[in-house]
Amino acid sequence: METIIEKSRTIVPDPILRDYDDASRTFQWKDAYDRIEWFDDGRLNIAASAVDRHAGSWRKNKVALYWQGNDRARKYTFLELSNLSNQFANVLTDTGIEKGDRVFIFLPRVPELYVSFLGILKTGAIAGTMFAAFGPEGLYDRLHDSGARYLITDSELKKRVYEIKDDLPDLEHIFVIDEIDVADDEISYPEAMKTASRTFDVAKMRPEDPAFMLYTSGTTGKPKGVVHKHLAIVQQHVTTEWVLDLHEDDIYWCTADPGWVTGVSYGMLGPWSCGSSVVVYDGRFDPDAWYGIIERYQVSVWYSAPTAFRMLMRAGEAYKNYDLSTLRHICSVGEPLNAEIVHWGMKAFEMPIHDNYWQTETGGILIANYPSMPVKPGWMGKPIPGISAAIVDGDGNRVPYNTEGDLALTPDFPSMMLAIWKNPAKYAEYFKKGWYLTGDRALQHEDGYFLFIGRADDVILTAGERVGPFEVESALIEHPAIVEAGVIGKPDQLRGEIIKAFVVLAPGYEPSDDLESDIRKFVKTRLAGHAYPREFEFVKTLPKTRSGKIVRRMLRAKELGLPIGDISTLEE
Ligand code: PRX
Repeated sequence: METIIEKSRTIVPDPILRDYDDASRTFQWKDAYDRIEWFDDGRLNIAASAVDRHAGSWRKNKVALYWQGNDRARKYTFLELSNLSNQFANVLTDTGIEKGDRVFIFLPRVPELYVSFLGILKTGAIAGTMFAAFGPEGLYDRLHDSGARYLITDSELKKRVYEIKDDLPDLEHIFVIDEIDVADDEISYPEAMKTASRTFDVAKMRPEDPAFMLYTSGTTGKPKGVVHKHLAIVQQHVTTEWVLDLHEDDIYWCTADPGWVTGVSYGMLGPWSCGSSVVVYDGRFDPDAWYGIIERYQVSVWYSAPTAFRMLMRAGEAYKNYDLSTLRHICSVGEPLNAEIVHWGMKAFEMPIHDNYWQTETGGILIANYPSMPVKPGWMGKPIPGISAAIVDGDGNRVPYNTEGDLALTPDFPSMMLAIWKNPAKYAEYFKKGWYLTGDRALQHEDGYFLFIGRADDVILTAGERVGPFEVESALIEHPAIVEAGVIGKPDQLRGEIIKAFVVLAPGYEPSDDLESDIRKFVKTRLAGHAYPREFEFVKTLPKTRSGKIVRRMLRAKELGLPIGDISTLEE
């Protein structure tokens, strides 16, 4: 099997990783608790651990955030970030915020997003993040389910919130970041910040207290609120060191939006807890803009996703026009990193792209090809010390090496989710015979490396985003011409998968280009950009079980010309 032994541009990190086999045998999470003074009398606060720790040290004047907008740039030191988030925590406290209140942020990647995220955590409230691309439906699902009491947004995005606000009885306070004259029931963020004190008595939380939440998709039902605890910082910290290999003098760029867990755990918390300088680019994907960011900020460690690398690969040799010589380590997450991209990375950046694997629910990296380990292109790597991963059969028994099965973990690591918001039954579904089941299919080679095979369920992975078919189908059937819809992921060279919708029309409607474009417009307003179907097919019926459930696996098999499999439970 091919392996690439890194020509070490990477400084072999933590001694724990010099000998992986030894570390994975001996490491215990307790060791990570002991290495930094996370706890004060058994309590901690994830924001203080990430940022305030450095604001009170020699790093106070070190840049924590290099922010680059389309035509503006700003930088914030650890001390500034700490002070600003203290100010926002005071603003929230003045409005009567209580521990455990849900505070959601609906903003593009502007500095206020980062400041308010930290400020919320400091009060002991639960911070929720949302992509700026969400339409009213996506917003409603999250704000309603979470019972959010606060929302932080801007003058443009708030228009979408007002479309559903009457149906959100818990939403009391709306902060607007770019207006001074606001409506009666709104609060001007800049006005409120003006007079707020820079000192704040940060809430001391129990390790198991909730800190932040993100909604993610499953096969059925609406998106689920995955709640993470303050203790997660311990794993985010050590994995940032071990896997992303961040060191004092690194300039680090994570391309993920904080609406996605990567943008939270490794766009803010992990790297800041290591005292690293983080670059945020609030702009659209464009190869020149991206390479320009690396050149301008002299990025040394870069964390992105396979779809982005594939898009860069398509841009040919654009990388040759930029000085990318500061790059030292590149990591990828979110979808399979095919060997082809790793080889392209060797050509374009003269180093392999390192894959790693985890999920919204696990809050931190689980399996990785990390710096001290040879990269096997196409393979995800090995479990980090402290994580036990296994491939199991339907009964939870381990299967032999090189055999496909369910990827399972023992759920005893610090960044494991605390709960599914208001849905203990859903939470319980993840666990079986002592295992946490990831919902992914994989296999393990006898050398210990894991290979990702696919999802065990109908969840679609498109451009690294998880999309639940049910959400898309629900949006489709709201269109008056559609009575039924079945949605699948269809393999795609660029995006990994694209969303394809099979729709059954109501009596009196006939398929046409006009109707298709009307349906496209309709769903675009209801779903975030990544979740709307790129392909449509009008069909007369959908395959269903006798109990009436759409059998998406049959739609997929038909689409791909694969065997249809067991049809004994299907409707005639
Ligand atoms: O199917 C796996 C895929 O992405 C899912 C998790 O998606 P999400 O909760 O959005 O978390 C993203 C944060 C990492 C997984 O269940 N996935 C993630 N990483 C990889 C991957 N598939 C293949 N290779 C990976 N490295």
